[in-house]
Amino acid sequence: MDRVVKAATVAWLAAAAVVPAVAAAEQVVVAAAQAAVAVAQVVAAAAPAALAAAVLAATAALTENRTMRTPRGVGISLRRQHYEDALASANGPDFLEVQPENFMAYGGLTRRTFHALAERYCIVPHGVALSLGGPAPLSADYLRSLRELFPVPPAWLSEHVAYAADEQEAFHDLLPLPFSYAAMDHVAGRARQVRQTLELPILLENISYYATMPGSQLSEGAFLRGVLEAADAGLLLDVNNVYVNAINQGVDPSAALFALPLERTAQIHLAGHRRHGNLLLDDHGSAVPDAVWSLFEQALQHVGKAVPVVIEWENRVPSFERLMQEVSRAKEIIARA
Ligand SMILES: [Fe+2]
Repeated sequence: MDRVVKAATVAWLAAAAVVPAVAAAEQVVVAAAQAAVAVAQVVAAAAPAALAAAVLAATAALTENRTMRTPRGVGISLRRQHYEDALASANGPDFLEVQPENFMAYGGLTRRTFHALAERYCIVPHGVALSLGGPAPLSADYLRSLRELFPVPPAWLSEHVAYAADEQEAFHDLLPLPFSYAAMDHVAGRARQVRQTLELPILLENISYYATMPGSQLSEGAFLRGVLEAADAGLLLDVNNVYVNAINQGVDPSAALFALPLERTAQIHLAGHRRHGNLLLDDHGSAVPDAVWSLFEQALQHVGKAVPVVIEWENRVPSFERLMQEVSRAKEIIARA
């Protein structure tokens, strides 16, 4: 962990030095996305015939939902292991959230799978590679690919208040910004640029982090509120991230929750974490813990029960049925909120 924090700090300091010169020549900053594409192409080449059959069946049978674009209820963060189940299920989640990097920039079975899923479900993209807080110019190629992936524009694009690359390389991680006015202006301006380029609303997620960056001048809540207001963005409230950060920082999770700009909440994430020594690690590798469900209930009292919710269980991926149990539990909590 020390190595990660040090790398993040060094990278940010290097980035901060060049932020005023951010308008340098345009270059692609999506090494992470390109790596994901390469892996996905290999996976697609080896995809089982059953998936191809499921894609064809879903595409043929379900065409009426093409314009269904506003997420409602409880959805899942879709992993490759669940493509087939999601297409075949009669009682699937209310909507899907996908990482567009897993589908962009190539065709074949993976692209056909995406379109079949889009016929069956409302899909919202949740990016991880735009590096909104980073120093490199935003990738025009990335934004073009995202637009091409969604012939019918999605309800919104969500991303993170973070940076994921410097000017040389992608970090394959979401790293924290200093809670400073300069970082606020920088990330909000780039989020605005994405919103205007794509002509889509944008939601920004509070990340988990394990050190407060040098140069911070504000609380996290004040920083996020400033970013969202300046970007005219909604909050993607990750309740697990709130909990993990609060416990690691020794503060009350409820107080941490209510310090955030909850009035801008447009979507909620729920996920699991694990303990590593004195730290909680946000690893999305298990069921939502009771403490996070409890914080979710508190959040609902403030944001209302109409806000769409996504279950993120993306490592040590469970069966589709087990994942749907988490969806059901979220629905039960929402129903009694
Ligand atoms: Fe999240």
